[in-house]
Amino acid sequence: MTMSAHTPVLLKEAITALNIKPGGTYLDVTYGRGGHSYAIAEHLCPDGMLIAMDRDPHAVRHAREYPPSGPRFEIIQAPFSELYRVQQSLPPGCLADGILADLGVSSPQLEDAERGFAFDREGPLDMRMDPTRGPSAREWIADAEQAELKWAIKIYGEEKYAARIARAIVEKRETSPIVNTRDLAELVAGNVPERESGRNPATRTFQAIRMHVNGELGQLRALLPQAVQCLKGAGRLVIIGFHSLEDRIVKRFMRDEARGDPFPSDLPVTAGELKPRLRIIGKPIRPSEQELQSNRRARSAIMRVAERTEAAYA
Ligand SMILES: C[S@@+](CC[C@H](N)C(=O)[O-])C[C@H]1O[C@@H](n2cnc3c(N)ncnc32)[C@H](O)[C@@H]1O
Repeated sequence: MTMSAHTPVLLKEAITALNIKPGGTYLDVTYGRGGHSYAIAEHLCPDGMLIAMDRDPHAVRHAREYPPSGPRFEIIQAPFSELYRVQQSLPPGCLADGILADLGVSSPQLEDAERGFAFDREGPLDMRMDPTRGPSAREWIADAEQAELKWAIKIYGEEKYAARIARAIVEKRETSPIVNTRDLAELVAGNVPERESGRNPATRTFQAIRMHVNGELGQLRALLPQAVQCLKGAGRLVIIGFHSLEDRIVKRFMRDEARGDPFPSDLPVTAGELKPRLRIIGKPIRPSEQELQSNRRARSAIMRVAERTEAAYA
C-alpha cells in the first residue's frame, strides 16, 4: 500500500461549513487519506461520532491503521451510493449532523502506478477505485463501441478530439490490446494535435475513462437524496466537486430541494407548504489564491453547502 499523502482541498472552509457540534454525528463519505476526517475529529469530543466511508480498500486500510483520535470512529468500505443502507446498519439514532463528500480521486490513487490512474506512470490500465468491483479500464476499452468511447471522452473529458481518439483506440485494439497506461497515453498524444500549456494531452481522456469506469456521476446522483434522508434537521450537507458536470448535478439538486414539492404555479400555496427539504447556505466556495498556489489539485474545486430544514419532519 502506498503511504503517500493527500493534501485536503478547502479544508478550513469545509470545517466551517459543517458547523460542527462537539457531541454530534458526522459522516465523511470520501475518507481518502483522512485529511477532512482528522480535522472533523479535532472538533468532536469523545461523545461525538465520526463515520467514514470509502470504496477503495487502500483508503479503508489507512483509516484502520491510523484512525482519527477523539470521537468514536468507524470506517466502512462501500460506495457512497449505498449511504442509506450503511446508515441503517448503524445504531438507531445515528442521523447525521453533517455529511461531507470530497469527490474524485486522491493523490495516493493517482501516484500509485499499479492502480493505473496516471498517464505519466507506466502501469496496468485499471482505474477502479475498488479494484474488486466492475470492469477495469482495460476491459472497458477492449469491448466498448467506438460511439460509446467517443461519447465518454467528449462528455466526461470535455475533449474536442474525442472522435479521433475513439477511432484510434478501436483501430489499435484490432491489432493488439491496449493494456497499460503508457500505451494509451501515447496513442492519445498522437491524436491530439493541439497542446494545452501545462497539460499532458492525455489528461482529458484519462479523466473521462476514470469517470466512466467508476460511474462517478451516477454515484453522485444516487448519493444526494440519500444524504438528505440521513441528515438531522439543521444538519449540513457539504459537497466538494472538481468537474463542471458534478457541480451542475449538485447545484440543481440543492436548488430543487430548496424549492420544495413541485406545485402548479397558479395554486395559492405558501413557500412553507412546499416543504423544501434543504436550505442553501451561502454562495459556492472556491479555493483561495493562497490554496491554489500550494495545491494544484485545488484549481477546479468548488464547494456547495446546504442545510436540512426542520420543515421536512413536519
Ligand atoms: C478526493 S479523495 C478524498 C480525500 C480526503 N477528503 C482527504 O482529505 O484525504 C476522494 C476519495 O473518495 C473515494 N471515492 C470516490 N468516489 C467514491 C464513491 N462513489 N464511494 C465511496 N468512495 C468514493 C476515493 O476512493 C477517494 O479515496
